[in-house]
Amino acid sequence: NVLILDFGSQYTQLIARRVRELNIFCEIKPYNKPPEDLSKYKAVILSGSPFSVRADDAPHPDLSEIRGKKPLLAVCYGAQYLAHFGGGNVAPSNTREYGRANLSYLKPDELFFESISEGSQVWMSHSDTIQKLPDGAQVLASTHDVENAAYKIENEITYAIQFHPEVYHSKDGKQLLENFLVKIAGLEQTWTPDAFVDITVAELKKKIGSEKVILGLSGGVDSTVAAVLLHKAIGKNLHCIFVNNGLLRKNEFSEVLEQYEDMGLNVKGVDASARFLDALKGESDPEKKRKIIGRVFIEVFDDEAHLVEDAKWLAQGTIYPDVIESVSATGGPSATIKSHHNVGGLPDFMKLKVVEPLKMLFKDEVRRVGRSMAIGDERLGRHPFPGPGLAIRILGDITAEKVAILQEVDYIFIKGLRDWGLYDQVWQAGAMLLPVNSVGVMGDERTYEKCVALRAVESTDGMTADWVNLPYEFLQKTSNDIINKVPGVNRVVYDISSKPPATIEWE
Ligand code: XMP
Repeated sequence: NVLILDFGSQYTQLIARRVRELNIFCEIKPYNKPPEDLSKYKAVILSGSPFSVRADDAPHPDLSEIRGKKPLLAVCYGAQYLAHFGGGNVAPSNTREYGRANLSYLKPDELFFESISEGSQVWMSHSDTIQKLPDGAQVLASTHDVENAAYKIENEITYAIQFHPEVYHSKDGKQLLENFLVKIAGLEQTWTPDAFVDITVAELKKKIGSEKVILGLSGGVDSTVAAVLLHKAIGKNLHCIFVNNGLLRKNEFSEVLEQYEDMGLNVKGVDASARFLDALKGESDPEKKRKIIGRVFIEVFDDEAHLVEDAKWLAQGTIYPDVIESVSATGGPSATIKSHHNVGGLPDFMKLKVVEPLKMLFKDEVRRVGRSMAIGDERLGRHPFPGPGLAIRILGDITAEKVAILQEVDYIFIKGLRDWGLYDQVWQAGAMLLPVNSVGVMGDERTYEKCVALRAVESTDGMTADWVNLPYEFLQKTSNDIINKVPGVNRVVYDISSKPPATIEWE
């Protein structure tokens, strides 16, 4: 296990992903809340940071239990930190040191730079520079602008690098991490999806025994993989509840329910569409709509959960990005742009113990684990779909008729993406029903009907996104199909806004 101490860099999660890609398990902890027990960590990585080490409010943690005691790799800010407090000198750099650079004068440290050749491209992102190395250090590599691009401290397994090995543009970054973790620190590359399944199933069996577990299935990747893992561990004692909030895609409820049954899951489908639509009646405010859906979901789920006698556990498909306590660069909680109702969990009154089998996994790892349990790509490759569903894609108030219109439009769009082989190139897609009527002409008739906007984005995590350049022929055909087949719609537009400044959903 590897410990990554986070100083607030935007790349910290990427370090963890790279390490995991090497089939080595790792955990991110904020520098100001390090784990009390360090014994399980065989190596430590210090992340970058938006701070300057010279600033008074910069992270200045005590590393006395780590440095010299465990193999240590200090990245960017970490490297500066070791220099600043180790007898070296860190100063603002004269030239901007952002972007590509090439390593030169690689000291033949046979292990650290093994399989990495002179000139290897690395990615820099810093405004301070290490002018003087800390005591006992020797330089291992430089770049054109950065003399101390990599150094090692003698008589310790302490390495420091000014560049970011975790980013894609550091071409040999993963090799370097492998060299450090495997060849130097001696970690084994045994953390595979199959191993994860075996270990997790054994742990779940032990933890849960013969008690009953309740899990809310959403049709999405995370809850599905969590359910299949738990099912492997405890079989029929896993009681899954799949709620139809009336805001799902067309046919989604019945189709997905059938798939879950085929997987052998003990699942109950609950059609609460009317209850949700009733509660949403007349409400146009996006945040209020989310809150209502969140509240009704909890009510419905609670009713159903009470029907399972003697349930002791609530299982959730929480994944790692939801639980990482990263150091926020701004120091404070970030602004609520949209309240995601499914983050934050269910209220205390359910009095159940919580089990979250995926809480250490990134999304792509959840997919790999799903694949290793033979869950079909149809489920695993599915686009993300928001918890409040079509409610946040219908601008303004929600009625059953509007839902029905949007379901048809969405169906044509998504089916088209699949038929044209575009679905997997898109990270998320959907249609928005706008509160706009416009004039059209069909046959000789004047129409005054609704407008829909199609949205397809590429992204890796939904935090930033760009619109996808879908072929004009596809857009043309889709627009035609929608206007011809969906009564009530006479205009289709395509959303060409990136996030930021727009968001993916319109509400
Ligand atoms: P935005 O619109 O904020 O969306 O750019 C980013 C990602 O989050 C999804 N999303 C939600 N998911 N509950 C959810 O479960 C919500 O309230 C919610 N709002 C947005 C959105 O679909 C996209 O994948």
